[in-house]
Amino acid sequence: MIFETFAAGGCKSYIAGCEATRAAVLIDPEISLIDRYLGFASQHGVHIRHIVDTHTHADHFSASRELGKTLHAPIVMHRLSAAPFADLRLDDGDMLIVGELRLKALHTPGHTRDSMCLVMADRVFTGDTLLIGGTGRTDLPTGDPHALYESLFERVLKLPPQMLVFPAHDYKGRTHTTIGAEIADNPRLRKADRAAFVEMMEKLNLAAPTHLTEALRVNMSGGKSVAQMLAEASARVPFMSLAELNGRIGGNSRDLVILDLRESDAFQAGHIPGARHLPRGQLELRVNVELPDPTVRILTCCEFGKISTLAAATLRELGYCRAVALDGGIHAWREAGYEMER
Ligand SMILES: [Fe+2]
Repeated sequence: MIFETFAAGGCKSYIAGCEATRAAVLIDPEISLIDRYLGFASQHGVHIRHIVDTHTHADHFSASRELGKTLHAPIVMHRLSAAPFADLRLDDGDMLIVGELRLKALHTPGHTRDSMCLVMADRVFTGDTLLIGGTGRTDLPTGDPHALYESLFERVLKLPPQMLVFPAHDYKGRTHTTIGAEIADNPRLRKADRAAFVEMMEKLNLAAPTHLTEALRVNMSGGKSVAQMLAEASARVPFMSLAELNGRIGGNSRDLVILDLRESDAFQAGHIPGARHLPRGQLELRVNVELPDPTVRILTCCEFGKISTLAAATLRELGYCRAVALDGGIHAWREAGYEMER
C-alpha cells in the first residue's frame, strides 16, 4: 500500500493508494495542502479516486470541494452531512472500493452527527471521534456526548487492539496510535461509565476554534473562505512592489493611475503622491466615468493590500487589462518611510 500522512498545524490528512491499480483515496484534505496532495499523487503515480471528509469540520477549511472539481472525484461523506456538494453519502457499514483497498464506514456520531470512522485493513481513520490521548469535543454544533460515548465504547474501542489509529488531529506531532494503546493510556477513556463520561465532556469548557463560523459556512455550503478569495484574486493579477512604485512617482500620470480605494477620511489623512481617490464601495458605480480608457495602467492600493488585490482582479474582469495591485498596502508604504501627500 502507498500511504502518506500530511499535517497542517494540528490537522491531519491521509492518502492511501493501491500498489496494483494506482487508485487512491484522500481523507480529510485541508485547503492549504492542495498542491502537496497533487504533488504526492504525481510523484507516486497514483490517481485520487475518492475524497473523504470524516465529518463536517468546524476548525479548518476542507479542500474536498476544490479537489473534487479538479480531480473529478466524488466527495464522500456520511449520509447525515449537511454539505450539499457531497456526491457519495455513506450509511453505516457501507464500503468504498479503491483499487484493491476496502474502506468500511462506521457511523460514529458524537463529535458531530455526521462523524464516521473508516476501517481499512490493519488501520482505522477515526476522524475526530478518537484522537491520540484524547477524543473529539462534543460542544460544537451537532455534538453530543451521549452519542460519543456509544460510538467509542460500543464501536471504536471494540475494534481489534492491534488496529492502528490515524486521527484527523494531533497537536503534538505524533503519527498514530493503536486501539489497545488508547484503551490503556487515553485519559478520556478512563470514564467507562456513561454518566461520568458525559459529565467530563460537558465540563471541558474549551475555547471555540479560531475560524468556527467561517469554517462551518465554507464546509457546509461549499463556498469560499476569505483567504481563498484572496488567493484566487492574487493568482489572477500582477503586483507592483513599493520600491518600484516609488521609482515611478512623479512620472507621467497618464502612464500610471494610482487608485486609492480607502474611505475619504483615510485618503485625506495622507496618500501616495499623485493618487486618485475612488473608494472600493463605489468602484463599479463610478468606473465608467472615472476610467474611460480600459488600456490605461492602473495600480490599486488600500491600507493592507488585500482589498486592492480583490479590486485589481475585478478591474481585470471588467476589461482593464493592465490593472495591477500594490504588493503591500499604504500601511507598509508609510512604515517604509516613503513620501505621503496630504
Ligand atoms: Fe472536527
